[in-house]
Amino acid sequence: ICAVLLFLSKLSIRRYCHDTRGSMYMWLTALAGLAILSLSFLKTYFGPYFAQDCAFIWRSLKLGIRLTKYKKSKPFYSLLDHFLDGAKRHPDKVFVHFEGHQYSYAEVDKQSSKVARALQAEAKLKEGDTVALFLPNEPVYMWTFLGLAKLGCPAALLNFNIRSKSLLHCFSCCGAKVLITSPELQDAVEEVLPTLTEQGISVYILSDSCRVPGIEPLAGKISNASDEPLSKELRANVTVRSTALYIYTSGTTGLPKAAVVTHERVWAACFIQAAVGVTADDIFYINLPLYHSAGFLIGMAGGIERGMTMVLRRKFSASQFWNDCRKYNVTVMQYIGETLRYLCNTPKRDEDRQHRVRFAIGNGARTDIWTEFLNRFGDIHVRELYGATEGNIGFINYTNKVGVVGRINYLHKFFFPHTLIKFDIEKEEPVRNSDGLCIEASRGETGLLVGKITKRSPFVGYAANKTQTDKKRLHDVLKKGDLYFNTGDLLQIDSENFVYFMDRVGDTFRWKGENVATSEVGDILTTANSILEANVYGVKVEGHEGRIGMAAVTLKEGEDFDCADAYKQVVTYLPAYARPRFIRLQPCLEVTGTFKMKKVKLVEEGFNPVNISDRLYFLDTEKKTYIPLTEEMYNAIMSLEIKL
Ligand SMILES: *[C@@H]1O[C@H](CO)[C@@H](O)[C@H](O)[C@H]1NC(C)=O
Ligand SMILES: *[C@@H]1O[C@H](CO)[C@@H](O)[C@H](O)[C@H]1NC(C)=O
Ligand SMILES: *[C@@H]1O[C@H](CO)[C@@H](O)[C@H](O)[C@H]1NC(C)=O
Ligand SMILES: *[C@@H]1O[C@H](CO)[C@@H](O)[C@H](O)[C@H]1NC(C)=O
Ligand SMILES: *[C@@H]1O[C@H](CO)[C@@H](O)[C@H](O)[C@H]1NC(C)=O
Repeated sequence: ICAVLLFLSKLSIRRYCHDTRGSMYMWLTALAGLAILSLSFLKTYFGPYFAQDCAFIWRSLKLGIRLTKYKKSKPFYSLLDHFLDGAKRHPDKVFVHFEGHQYSYAEVDKQSSKVARALQAEAKLKEGDTVALFLPNEPVYMWTFLGLAKLGCPAALLNFNIRSKSLLHCFSCCGAKVLITSPELQDAVEEVLPTLTEQGISVYILSDSCRVPGIEPLAGKISNASDEPLSKELRANVTVRSTALYIYTSGTTGLPKAAVVTHERVWAACFIQAAVGVTADDIFYINLPLYHSAGFLIGMAGGIERGMTMVLRRKFSASQFWNDCRKYNVTVMQYIGETLRYLCNTPKRDEDRQHRVRFAIGNGARTDIWTEFLNRFGDIHVRELYGATEGNIGFINYTNKVGVVGRINYLHKFFFPHTLIKFDIEKEEPVRNSDGLCIEASRGETGLLVGKITKRSPFVGYAANKTQTDKKRLHDVLKKGDLYFNTGDLLQIDSENFVYFMDRVGDTFRWKGENVATSEVGDILTTANSILEANVYGVKVEGHEGRIGMAAVTLKEGEDFDCADAYKQVVTYLPAYARPRFIRLQPCLEVTGTFKMKKVKLVEEGFNPVNISDRLYFLDTEKKTYIPLTEEMYNAIMSLEIKL
């Protein structure tokens, strides 16, 4: 194989030497890929995942070559250009279905031109001006973004759930001078309007009129504007490294951070659907917010890349989910965090398997739910991804192994160097040896994932906050002077190269000298009869090192907390140090916009029954069950009479 490759490479180099530099580059990339492919080939020849590895590597290679071509092209070929080409090829194809309406590619194209012209006239926008979008999940979001792209303007995607201080923070850190909102969010904007006006920000609302001074109605201007295509000259200076978007990290702690998303990153994220094997004939169901990477990049931008039809939903709804899938003939769905769990928690129905969904793309599915989901809703290829908006490394599960977030192969490792390093949970920093370098974790050991920052896998950082950006950079990892991106995620790679997600740094805590991964404990708790959802965290107890396990849980409808059963599950499946000693019953669990559970407030509130109105339980090792936690018991724990 090697000999053949060598021969081929010589041949092609000789043949293509005189060709333009662009295609020479492409061929070299392809050849480098082939060479590595052959390495992978040899290494995995006898492995059971050989065919899947090859298919995936092949698709990735083709995508890599395409990306290289786009990067080299002058002017830069952006996602917008791709959309315009699509609109030319299939103008009448449905771009998006939304609440009974449908909009074709041509209509969306025209509408985005109108938006661009209205904004150009009203806000005097020019290339490079950032515009903040504070809009609900509606098709207008899509064409407003495309309109801004036609002017070469980056869009900052504000989370429509944020208010007051947080809203101002997010708005100001992207440096936008223009805010676009919609009537249903007017109250939230009015709340911060004095500050915005003071800063000279132009605020536009997508309605025909607005009585509030300082908020300009834009809908009439848009409908009056011409839908003629806009000149490419307007965006002539946009390059692959220009900022396309600001996307806010949902952060379970502190204020959101604005991750800078370049056009290069947009393209890379778009390719996820293609890498999975989604085609232009598929129909993609976007039920996640468009202000996050999952909905916007993997969903909408990926849909534009495929030239497919999308179905947009205002808000995720577990009860309507499959009805929508049936109504619109959805073939690819998206999930995140807990939404698979929500789907599994709906009452069973006869038509559960009547749908055409063949792929589910997302991240954060836990093994138990993953299996239940497949058993209940049929043969769907779950494609679990691992990645972060601002990160420079990602994985995708392209084999059919349940519970893994991906698989590393030599090609991937070559193009995106990364490693797992030993991590000290208590100090929340990597372990370093006497030379000050990090130590690689061994196979099967949990470690912190770090991705080398290179030209091919850059880390652009966060807008307007160098401190935050620097905090994610890790120096002197394997060699003095090298630089890695700290993902803040703990992963494991097994002997077969499968990657498993373990926990977020900060979620994992230490008790009795052992690390406790909260997600694993949560998985066990939800196997108890009465428990629906569980959010696990560690709380500090006076007089003890580390943090002791606690869980906020919700109960299944109509059920009471089954102390004995919960105890049985916990004791059977968890080592003593990992068992939640305190349980707090809550009517519902607070989650972020991307359904990640909020822990910080719970950790602060602790387990004092005097301060907490929710029912609290304590794992009593003598009575061998959970018992209600009283104030006397609390005091006994604090005075160390009850041993933990
Ligand atoms: C739109 O055009 C009509 C007719 O020319 C005009 O009467 C109206 O004022 C315009 N609306 C806006 C918001 O400019
Ligand atoms: C692009 O850059 C050139 C040179 O810096 C400048 O003259 C031109 O005005 C820019 N075009 C736009 C649309 O900003
Ligand atoms: C879904 O498919 C059926 C049968 O192929 C077709 O009749 C129907 O019009 C499709 N629905 C949509 C919304 O495209
Ligand atoms: C940057 O982030 C840090 C820590 O998250 C925060 O303390 C600081 O105020 C931020 N700076 C700006 C300019 O937002
Ligand atoms: C809980 O209540 C106690 C007694 O009323 C008080 O001293 C303590 O500060 C409270 N703690 C919190 C976190 O509110």
